[in-house]
Amino acid sequence: MSTSAKVPPAKLARAVEWSRHHLYRLHQRLTPAPAAVLEMIVAGWTSQAVTVAAQLGVADALADGPLSIDDLAARVDANPDALRRLMRALISRGIFRRRRDGRYELNTLAHALRSDAPVSMDSAARFYGSQEQRERWTLLVDSIRTGDGVVAALRGKESFDYFDENPELAELFNQTMTSVSKLTDATVVAGYDFSVYPTIVDVGGGHGPLLAAILATAPASRGVLYDLPSVVADAPGVLRAQGVADRIQIVEGSFFDRVPSGGDAYILKNIVHDWPDEKAVQILRNVRAAVGSRANVLLVEFVIPEHDRDFPGKWVDLEMLLNLGARERTAADYRKLLSEAGFRMTRVAQTASPLSVVEARPA
Ligand SMILES: C[S@@+](CC[C@H](N)C(=O)[O-])C[C@H]1O[C@@H](n2cnc3c(N)ncnc32)[C@H](O)[C@@H]1O
Repeated sequence: MSTSAKVPPAKLARAVEWSRHHLYRLHQRLTPAPAAVLEMIVAGWTSQAVTVAAQLGVADALADGPLSIDDLAARVDANPDALRRLMRALISRGIFRRRRDGRYELNTLAHALRSDAPVSMDSAARFYGSQEQRERWTLLVDSIRTGDGVVAALRGKESFDYFDENPELAELFNQTMTSVSKLTDATVVAGYDFSVYPTIVDVGGGHGPLLAAILATAPASRGVLYDLPSVVADAPGVLRAQGVADRIQIVEGSFFDRVPSGGDAYILKNIVHDWPDEKAVQILRNVRAAVGSRANVLLVEFVIPEHDRDFPGKWVDLEMLLNLGARERTAADYRKLLSEAGFRMTRVAQTASPLSVVEARPA
């Protein structure tokens, strides 16, 4: 998704989401209750199988055309019989296809696993299915008992500090953020008018994919990309590929120390959700100190809706709990948090994706 033209109106997206939810409920009701629950219990097998396809590079191996199982196994260095069984299971869930001549090929879902896909889920499959991530999720029960994250106890340090010492995992995480961001950036750009701001600061902007997407539709605006030194080091490539590198200044530092001043809007996308309230307020106060009396702050987050239907943010919330004892929040939670940091929440703009833009002004 790179152009706002492809983005449906947020209301249409909500209607589709409502229909999918009720179709899924129907699917559950067509199954005996214990079987429906068992299906949920073993859902992790599916995700691990997708991870294995990514770890082996199956989608990349099929990028040039169909292959027999022996040729595919040779390409990805796997046991042919075991690989055939993996493919059979994945195909049953709608990813990859077996042709009439017995060879395997990519289908629409499998294309999304190619490492060179425009919006590739390859790094996400490898990061979320990594041993480190899986180990964390086995300790969810501890987080639910204590209300705290598990990373500090498990690794002896907090998440982002652990990345400092594990550059490979950090790189996979940053790539995952960039590719998942590409999945929703167009919806954020279509859901809020950023072009009114001459200078936009992306706080904790990672490699800068959202800032790049915004500047592509706001030709008169300039950007500042702010993140930790090890992260922004890899940003220039992403910004050059989007053709906006000449309008973006890269600044490195920690948002717990300071936030660059001089912006007309400060975007924090999936930043506040990474931190418990006290730390989140500390970051927002540093933003407040940078904005003076005029700029807006724009939090791009999974604002938890009031309804009981499925919503990705309700699951990311558990990931945040595990990581740092952090959380996703409702609109009321954001209003309170912003107010503690010296801002007044002015509106919440829904987008066609599960992300919303929470707009606030200095109080
Ligand atoms: C969940 S990622 C979101 C990245 C990006 N905004 C996006 O939505 O794709 C959190 C980001 O916060 C950055 N970060 C973590 N601690 C930071 C700190 N102390 N100062 C600045 N950035 C930090 C991470 O490097 C990472 O890029």
